[in-house]
Amino acid sequence: MKTFQVKGENRLSSIHVGERLENLKNYLPGTQVVIITDVNIKKEYGDIFPDVPVITIGTGEKIKTLETVESILKQLIDLSCDRSSFIVGIGGGIVCDITGFAASIFMRGVKFGFVSTSLLSQVDASVGGKNGVNLASFKNMVGVFNQPEFVICDIHLLKTLPKEEISNGLAEIVKHALIKDAAMFDFIEQNRENALHLDYDTIFKLVADSVDIKSRVVQQDEKEAGERRKLNFGHTIGHAIEKIERTHTSKDYGHGRAVSMGMIAAALFSREKGLLAQKDTLRISCLLKDLNLPTELDYKARDIISAAGKDKKKQGADLFYVFLESIGKARVEKISFNQMNDFIQTIFK
Ligand SMILES: NC(=O)c1ccc[n+]([C@@H]2O[C@H](COP(=O)([O-])OP(=O)(O)OC[C@H]3O[C@@H](n4cnc5c(N)ncnc54)[C@H](O)[C@@H]3O)[C@@H](O)[C@H]2O)c1
Ligand SMILES: [Zn+2]
Repeated sequence: MKTFQVKGENRLSSIHVGERLENLKNYLPGTQVVIITDVNIKKEYGDIFPDVPVITIGTGEKIKTLETVESILKQLIDLSCDRSSFIVGIGGGIVCDITGFAASIFMRGVKFGFVSTSLLSQVDASVGGKNGVNLASFKNMVGVFNQPEFVICDIHLLKTLPKEEISNGLAEIVKHALIKDAAMFDFIEQNRENALHLDYDTIFKLVADSVDIKSRVVQQDEKEAGERRKLNFGHTIGHAIEKIERTHTSKDYGHGRAVSMGMIAAALFSREKGLLAQKDTLRISCLLKDLNLPTELDYKARDIISAAGKDKKKQGADLFYVFLESIGKARVEKISFNQMNDFIQTIFK
């Protein structure tokens, strides 16, 4: 097991990579505890949860809403929870984001922890203290910054994760390597098959390296005023693609899949600006493809431009765009929407 710490504004958060769900009881306080989970996780692992009340929610982005939060808050009241109660979210990014938000506003905030069960939430969603829900068509539009007391990343739980969710998590792992760690990128290239097959040592290293990178960045810049922006690499266009996909189908497209294409776009943009070498853009697209992630930019430019214009990170006519100088080194630049839109026209249909 490896433990990482994030010192947030309000508390110190410990992230335990390689700890087991079975040991969750050792992390709980002596006060009342309530678990929040989703139907899939309850079915798969409910029998090894500690013996405390469980609130079960549905699955998918469509339930990541204020209505779900309200229903949780009412159930906490019905369970006679008070300011000393402790809430544990056991699930993927959706359960963790909702749990952190509900716990942060229940009676103006109670303590909470996570057992992170999906690869994406282990390497990304449960680290960093961003919690919240969607509002109307806007993702993560309402929420708070607040760190959990602990996060348990149990690698063994990943074996029941649907295959496409493994690729979704790998996309964020590749992102961490691209912005911060060239040696990690080499490691993923050399161990791509092991990663896809969830070889324990390979996944343990990739989750630990990702948590290490993300927790260090967050530690430096909890509220995203500078360094933390680098974590948005591939996300400006990635979010636009997710949004377009949401209007076509009610099924979640997969955050990592959208970010994979967003990273391709950002790599091409970096090359066009003379920052990134052509051979590195090819390495990036080969690796993403081998990890079963989409790399073809098969969307209409005008759809991407319109979807990318309504990002909450938008600040007036400019935006912060994350470029790569090389594999392992990111650079954030303020550019105008016009500059980005012109580039989008050159790489999309
Ligand atoms: N807070 C942040 O900083 C942050 C960062 C990245 C993503 N997110 C959010 O995370 C969410 C996506 O997270 P996700 O990809 O984990 O999605 P998710 O929570 O929907 O999980 C994906 C699916 O896998 C199932 N699942 C999870 N763990 C499983 C397991 N061990 N075995 C079997 N099935 C399992 C879930 O029930 C769900 O159906 C998005 O809403 C995104 O906005 C937040
Ligand atoms: Zn992401």
